[in-house]
Formats: sequence, structure tokens, C-alpha cells
Amino acid sequence: MSAFYEEGLTEIHTADYGDVGLSGAAMVLKTLHAANVTSGLIVELGCGPGLSARQLVDAGFDVVACDASASMVNRAQALVPEVEIIHCDLEQFVWPAEAVAVVAFGEVLSYASSAQAFDQRLQQLLDRTRQVLCAGGLFVFDLVLAGRTGPTLKRHLHHDRAAYELSVDAVEDPTHRTLDRWIYGATKTEPVMVIDEQHRQITSEANDITDLLHQCGFSADVFGDYRKTQVTTPGWGVFLSVKLPQ
Ligand SMILES: C[S@@+](CC[C@H](N)C(=O)[O-])C[C@H]1O[C@@H](n2cnc3c(N)ncnc32)[C@H](O)[C@@H]1O
Repeated sequence: MSAFYEEGLTEIHTADYGDVGLSGAAMVLKTLHAANVTSGLIVELGCGPGLSARQLVDAGFDVVACDASASMVNRAQALVPEVEIIHCDLEQFVWPAEAVAVVAFGEVLSYASSAQAFDQRLQQLLDRTRQVLCAGGLFVFDLVLAGRTGPTLKRHLHHDRAAYELSVDAVEDPTHRTLDRWIYGATKTEPVMVIDEQHRQITSEANDITDLLHQCGFSADVFGDYRKTQVTTPGWGVFLSVKLPQ
């Protein structure tokens, strides 16, 4: 596999891009508490550096997590040593028997090689999640939605910060539903780490995802962020779904 969240990008993500996961964990905790659920097991897919897992554990929940990046897993293990963090692709994840919530914060589920692979995996994931969730359990995740790069279908970002310099060139292809990102730069402090990664994500339409959630036995609400803003940001959607009785 080509470079994917290696040490440099992991360090930058941990330092400056942890907000999504933290606000996701806060939304999950608020929703569980509102349903009087204060303990139980939460499955976290693509846990990254473990910031959200730390928050969930500190609130009294057990967590089992996986991530495809060895650097991310190392950080998560250091931050939440009491949690079992498995270094694997979510397709190889060995699921527990029962959970109160399954979560994937930070576009985790959007990474896929093709739209077909994405659609197939999401269907399997919904079936598996429904099996392990207890009655009223939550499935909470966010996805890249179509339109992320605006009308030009291209976006260039450049960040020159004290600790790193990072550029992202993104190209969206609506026909194939791909969003390809070339992420390059370097950290500035010793040891300097060069970043040169290419990520592919698959875009979705919010309505297709909510339809699929309904078909698979979930309620489905979609928001613009984990603070439950109505969808206003083109290209990004947060899905809050609850397992419905059969
Ligand atoms: C943008 S980061 C988000 C990390 C973390 N959830 C957070 O909110 O900070 C995306 C994470 O998803 C992981 N990931 C992407 N595809 C994955 C897959 N198929 N299986 C497991 N992890 C995956 C990456 O390794 C990375 O850690």
C-alpha cells in the first residue's frame, strides 16, 4: 500500500485536526446520555491518534478500536493504553458480540479505491453494525459528500505553520465519485519528516446514505457537523442513526 497516514501526517493530524473526532465523541456521549446509557462498549473505526477514544473512555465507556495506519495506532495506544487498538483495515476488524455504539469520525468510511468498493463495503458495514448494536444503539459517522471542491472540481490548500508546511491538491471527479488528494510537505522540527501521500476518497449523496440507512433498519438524521448544524457546508455530512426495532 502507498503511504497512508505515516508519521509526519499523523503528527500534523494529531496536533491540528483532532477537532472533528472530539466533537464527534461529544455528540455521541450527549446522545447516549439523553437515552440514559452511561456505560457499555463503543466500537471506533479509524480511531486515528485516539483523541476521541480517550474522551469516550473518560466518560465511562469501554472502547475497542481499529485503524489502518501503524503511526496512528502507536499514538492511540500511548494515549489510551486501557483500550484495545487493533492495527487493521476496518474490513479485517473482528467485531465484538455487542455494542452500544459504532462510530467513525473524520471521513474514515469515505476512503476507498472505487465507488463500487465503497458501496459494497458500506452495505456490509451497515449489516454488521446492525447485528452488533443493542436495541436503540447508535451508528454515527461522517462522509465526504459530492461538491466538496466547489464548481471548479479542484482545490489547492497551503498551510505554513510554525511546526510544518503542508499543501493539499484535491481533484473531484463526479462521474467516478472520486476525490483524489495529493498531500505533501514536511514538518519543521527535528527530526524533519517529509510528507508525500495520495489519498482517494469516494463522494456520496446525503439522500442515498439516508435511504440506505432506512433500508438497513436505522433511523437517519444528517447534519452539517457534529454540533448538529443543519447541512450548510457543501461536501460534508454527519450521519446520526439509531438501530430501529425490526
Ligand atoms: C482523517 S483521519 C481521522 C482520525 C480520527 N478518527 C479523528 O477523528 O481524529 C482518518 C483515519 O481513518 C483511518 N482509515 C481510513 N481508512 C481506513 C480503513 N479502511 N480501515 C481502518 N482505518 C482507516 C486512517 O488511517 C486515519 O487514521
